[in-house]
Amino acid sequence: MDLNSKIVSMFCIRCSKELAIDDYYLGCPKCLKENEVSNVSFVYNSEIFFCDRSQIGMKKYRDWLPYDDFPYLGEGDTPLVQVAMAELETALSVFLKCEHQNPSGSHKDRMNPLIVKRAKELGMAGVIAASSGNEGVSLALYAASAGLKCEIVSTKTINSIWKNAILSTGAQLILTETPDDRLVYIKERIKTGQTYSATNILEIPSGSSSFGIQGYKTISYEIIEQMNGEIPDYVFVPVSRGDLLYGIYEGFVDLKNMKIIATIPKLVAVEPFERLSSVLRGSDYKQRFIGDSRLTSSIGGATVTYQARQALQNSDGFAIELAQYEIMNAVYEMARKGFYLETSAAILYGALKKSCVEKALEPGSKVVLVSTSHGFKNDLNYYQSLES
Ligand SMILES: Cc1ncc(COP(=O)(O)O)c(C=O)c1O
Ligand SMILES: [Zn+2]
Repeated sequence: MDLNSKIVSMFCIRCSKELAIDDYYLGCPKCLKENEVSNVSFVYNSEIFFCDRSQIGMKKYRDWLPYDDFPYLGEGDTPLVQVAMAELETALSVFLKCEHQNPSGSHKDRMNPLIVKRAKELGMAGVIAASSGNEGVSLALYAASAGLKCEIVSTKTINSIWKNAILSTGAQLILTETPDDRLVYIKERIKTGQTYSATNILEIPSGSSSFGIQGYKTISYEIIEQMNGEIPDYVFVPVSRGDLLYGIYEGFVDLKNMKIIATIPKLVAVEPFERLSSVLRGSDYKQRFIGDSRLTSSIGGATVTYQARQALQNSDGFAIELAQYEIMNAVYEMARKGFYLETSAAILYGALKKSCVEKALEPGSKVVLVSTSHGFKNDLNYYQSLES
């Protein structure tokens, strides 16, 4: 089956313009004319929140996704595990949403079934994405399973763990000198009309494919179900383009609109250096930011997105940074609690600790950490070479 019949149109998340259902590689066209950069999303004509228990994974929530049917490799239904953290300065109940348990070991597995489905619906021969690693492996696996060609464009610094995984699927891996060079390649490839891009092609991005981002809403649906309808006070999310942050935000908004929850949690963006916190203080979201991210390449990058800022502002949340020298400690401390996470996910623990020291969280709060990626991707030899 094709597009969900409950979808009536798309809209710009910044200027609210109603838009036809399409792929907006340049974000909202109206905003672009005004030199703004904004992603778009979907309008669903639905009065109830229906969870289809005859289905598994994300398909339980297909009423609220772009498609009724899409490839399934075992993604979704990830555990929500309470983790004892008596060492924190503020007493909290902390839960880990184990997105690292998805098939390719990251949350990206909730986005790519829908991207692959979209590419198939359009009759494309293949898919393409710019990726520092996780999106590349995930898209390559879903494309392979659906019989689509796949090109992953990364930089020469990508580690061999991701490289080997991508190449194992039969995908083509293109390595460029700089992150911006990746976009030059993608722009050329999509001109053929045969390749669907998961990635936005603007240098200041609006975000990834809106079809894919919808998949992240299911994280919020699952959290509320797993907490038996209770609402977390804070949800911590590692952020790069803000696709995940925005998708989680929209998921909570859906539940609020459907009167399943009365309020939405405060979202907390976790970053390796000041980007979003600077934007929240008033600096332009379209500028470039400079900082070290060598230990956390998955959430590196010099840009932020309007969608990330909106998710933080509308949820009354905030952004917090954790410097590189603190990252490995966070990896070890989480591993000693039983969770071996990629640096870009373990950063959540360091950020949580820092938030407690800074008294940024209400005592007694319920906090969910969205653990985005498994530690098997950590390139410890490379990290040690930087430390010495
Ligand atoms: C491990 C990990 N965490 C978080 C993110 C952030 O995701 P987003 O780009 O949606 O902000 C990414 C990818 O970009 C990632 O690979
Ligand atoms: Zn707009």
